[in-house]
Amino acid sequence: MTTATKHEAYQNAISEIDAVLEGEENMILKMATINCLLKAHLPYYFWVGFYCVNAGELIVGPYQGTLGCLHISFQKGVCGRAARMEITQIVENVHNDPEHIACDALSVSEIVVPVFDKKGRLIAVFDVDSTEEGSFDDVDKHYLEAVLQKHFQEMPLQKNYL
Ligand code: SME
Repeated sequence: MTTATKHEAYQNAISEIDAVLEGEENMILKMATINCLLKAHLPYYFWVGFYCVNAGELIVGPYQGTLGCLHISFQKGVCGRAARMEITQIVENVHNDPEHIACDALSVSEIVVPVFDKKGRLIAVFDVDSTEEGSFDDVDKHYLEAVLQKHFQEMPLQKNYL
């Protein structure tokens, strides 16, 4: 995928996400819709989903792809690192990242973006895996941070989230 087609794919996916989620406040519906529409537009998405902060750890939330690990400690995985540091993580090749947890041996590169609520509290991390090396770059980071900020930080969420 060229940089230009990547920009176009994200723009198309995000305008569909914005249209479908207009006025929506339910966290699960937001997560399921974001997974579905991004995966439909970005052909290198192999696994896409959310790990939600729950009782001091991350637990798998809505996702599309092969079976994900159910529980991830804040001390483990690229997901745990993103949650601890509250900064987006891009991994070119997971085989060179000692912290990476392999839920599916086919995953080679990944991006993990922290998700915050209106008060700036971490509520989840958003994880995308690709079977190819180096699939994710600043273009992915830019659009994913923007769409997640818009729908979880700026738009209303139901009080209890679910
Ligand atoms: N690779 C992640 C674990 C989640 S899965 O890939 C679905 C990690 O290292 O945190």
